[in-house]
Amino acid sequence: MADVAVVGAGLMGHALALVFALGGHTVRLTDNNPETLARAPNLMATALATLTENGEVDASHDRQWLSAAVRCVPTLADTVKGASVVIEAVLERPDVKTVLYDQLQSLMEPDAILASNTSNLDIFPLVPEALQERTIIAHWYTPPYLCDLVDLCPGPATKPGAIETVRDMVKAMGKAPVVFKQMVQGYVANRLQAAMQLEVYRLLDEGLVTPKDIDDSVLHGLALRIPVLGIMAKADFTGLLLMQQGMKNRSYTPPVPQDHSPTLDALIAEGRSGVMAGKGYFDWSDRSPEELFRERDRKLLALKQALRTIGPMEPATGAAGGMAPTTRAAGGMAPTTRAAGPMENT
Ligand SMILES: NC(=O)c1ccc[n+]([C@@H]2O[C@H](COP(=O)([O-])OP(=O)(O)OC[C@H]3O[C@@H](n4cnc5c(N)ncnc54)[C@H](O)[C@@H]3O)[C@@H](O)[C@H]2O)c1
Repeated sequence: MADVAVVGAGLMGHALALVFALGGHTVRLTDNNPETLARAPNLMATALATLTENGEVDASHDRQWLSAAVRCVPTLADTVKGASVVIEAVLERPDVKTVLYDQLQSLMEPDAILASNTSNLDIFPLVPEALQERTIIAHWYTPPYLCDLVDLCPGPATKPGAIETVRDMVKAMGKAPVVFKQMVQGYVANRLQAAMQLEVYRLLDEGLVTPKDIDDSVLHGLALRIPVLGIMAKADFTGLLLMQQGMKNRSYTPPVPQDHSPTLDALIAEGRSGVMAGKGYFDWSDRSPEELFRERDRKLLALKQALRTIGPMEPATGAAGGMAPTTRAAGGMAPTTRAAGPMENT
């Protein structure tokens, strides 16, 4: 079992500390905002209670276990001292990450691995030379104690052992790592989400639909099928002839990527930044963030447990089978600059 440091105790950091603790590792968690660090134990305890109450984790994982398994530490130096893996979960800003990586280069143990949870940044140019060989991206999905996907990307100078160590570690924790051959900005899942976001912001910014219309379309349309069919098997069930015809019939141009959305900017300017602020697109102010996260987790867990029983549609060649890809799945592709192909609407 490893000694793990988690730097950044925000939305992802506290949850990642819990995940590694549940994986049997000894965890130290820090944040440069003392209030955020002070809030972390309650958030972890809330998530843990949902897991134990719903039978995902056995009842011996109580609050006492949690305070022994995850120690909240005020200083960066004491957090990373002795750690063989350092998880970076600080703000998604290049300037903030650069300053931290510079500090880490003198504080981390000589062989320790730095694993960044960045959503979209190519962090490797920000990492000092001394850490290049042992820096990777290990990108999780929120909430990471329920979502199993972990994207693993090496940098140009990363030694293969660093990826293998973290891959084996997260696999042993019951997670589902996808190993990329190189940094693929946005990985697969975030690229798909980014393509959807382009459509979402255009529909909102042009006043064509409301946020509720968008969620209704997803919840009652896309969402039911994806857990069982994914995207590619769904296309087979739709019939590829219709997919082909849909490409011919499309009469609108997919949105060109923008670096901002007036709708999003206006909400943020009003302080409506999401659940933590009590409001975002929707009003969440009748419940605390803790209550809301708990309710979300209960629902996601019920779905996860049901899906374990239901299982995905398996093609004859098994989940990984199918046709040979015409382009390499993980490496070598030029980054896309437009929304992915035509959106299917069947
Ligand atoms: N929010 C998500 O759903 C999600 C999912 C996957 C990956 N990520 C990635 O995880 C990272 C963290 O995202 P988040 O949503 O948890 O953000 P967040 O704002 O909730 O938390 C970031 C925390 O980092 C702390 N911080 C900033 N500089 C620091 C430093 N030098 N030392 C210690 N702590 C510092 C901040 O005080 C803050 O509490 C980002 O890179 C983000 O892209 C987020």
